[in-house]
Amino acid sequence: MMAQLDARGELLVVEEEIDLVHDLSALLSLTHDTLAVRANRIKGSDMPVFGNLLLNRERIGMALGVEAEAIQSTLLESVKKPVPPVLVSDAPVQQEDFTDGVLARLPVPTFFAKETGPYISAGMMIATDPETGLGNASYARLKILSPTEALIGIAPNHHLAIMARKAMALGKPLPFAVVLGAHPAIQLAACLYLGLGDDEMHCAGALLGEPVRVTKCLSSDILVPADAEIVLEGLIHADKPIEEGYVSEYHGMYEDYGVGVLATFHRMTRRSDAMFQVIEPGYHAEHIYLGAIPIAASLKAQLARSILNVGEVAVTASGSGRNNVVVQIHNPRPGQARRAMAICWGAVSIIKNITVVDGDVDPWDTEAVELAKATRMRAERDVLIVTDLPADRSEPQESGGMVAKIGYDATIRQSDRKEGFDKALPPQASYDRMRAVLGRAKPQER
Ligand SMILES: Cc1cc2nc3c(=O)[nH]c(=O)nc-3n(C[C@H](O)[C@H](O)[C@H](O)COP(=O)(O)O)c2cc1C
Repeated sequence: MMAQLDARGELLVVEEEIDLVHDLSALLSLTHDTLAVRANRIKGSDMPVFGNLLLNRERIGMALGVEAEAIQSTLLESVKKPVPPVLVSDAPVQQEDFTDGVLARLPVPTFFAKETGPYISAGMMIATDPETGLGNASYARLKILSPTEALIGIAPNHHLAIMARKAMALGKPLPFAVVLGAHPAIQLAACLYLGLGDDEMHCAGALLGEPVRVTKCLSSDILVPADAEIVLEGLIHADKPIEEGYVSEYHGMYEDYGVGVLATFHRMTRRSDAMFQVIEPGYHAEHIYLGAIPIAASLKAQLARSILNVGEVAVTASGSGRNNVVVQIHNPRPGQARRAMAICWGAVSIIKNITVVDGDVDPWDTEAVELAKATRMRAERDVLIVTDLPADRSEPQESGGMVAKIGYDATIRQSDRKEGFDKALPPQASYDRMRAVLGRAKPQER
């Protein structure tokens, strides 16, 4: 993908030496919604760093080989028709093998002023359920504590946290692997909200159009993508809590979650020319979109079970890529907008504000959605506030574990206006004639 971006002039290659403490973060922050970055010289490390790849829907479409409009249906198909991975022995990610002080070998950045240490932010965690043997892939942050120890910050309801607690109940730490630099399609699959036991790696195979090439870790039976850049092999100790301090969240502010748990690392394998992946955390485009796009697809799957005329579902960047959802419904029937709200609130705890729009409004176009709210809604009738719903712990306005949620029904009711909702525009024939005039006009006349 980096070669593709380079060819399009969308890759910034930095040859000047960059400091890992705050400077790399500032570089990625400045370019977060425009340029992919590869920093070739990192102070104190011989490994290049890259980031800002999946920073909008177009880039995600590029990673999946489809137009932006087809991302949602492509993700949904991947859940319906999963493709199991294939085990290979020629794994580039195992070209080099290290067993001593492995975390100290990585160029891990310190991102933000109030955070208390360097974080691995692009770590895709892979683990196997100790009871069922089924696999799971997801993202979580690792704060480096020593060359072999890190704090892992996982929300208690995430599948990885559940698996780590199951292992603890059996008196053992949970073996896991941290993958950096896997194919972007694999990264997207890891962010899908699936049922416990549904394996994200099988969805990744469907997205790639071929089975993911996986290889066995050198110290466990965990299967990792064979073509990734780096794999860390370690253990999660759910019985060893560690205070974290302030950490950034997707909404762009700090959170104090109290404790995370200990993760220890005894092995690292990597490509001989490995690059280190960084996702600029907080309210930055790649962090926003990598979460938002799979959440939107997962919501669409839930909605489509009972609302057959549901269209595209958007989780918008202006809603921090997590909190705000726009649901498009084609020719909605009375009551369907509120039903859609209830389904979204029930499906994903992080969702707060929901807007329902008609089929002629692009839910990803924030201005079009605002216009629909301004022109198609009567606040006293079409706004629904539900108080005291459970809040995700990352919710910016969470109080006592609860928050109020709001739904806006911005769909047309024909009876609202005697003039109707027709758009005031010239007739089609005039457009056709004037398009022809524009086509013939010289550039300076345009
Ligand atoms: C870049 C990125 C970083 C993330 N970091 C964390 C994190 O530090 N802690 C966490 O609990 N969830 C984090 N998440 C969210 C989880 O990965 C996501 O909710 C995932 O679907 C949970 O996995 P599960 O569905 O298997 O429970 C992150 C997501 C992304 C895209």
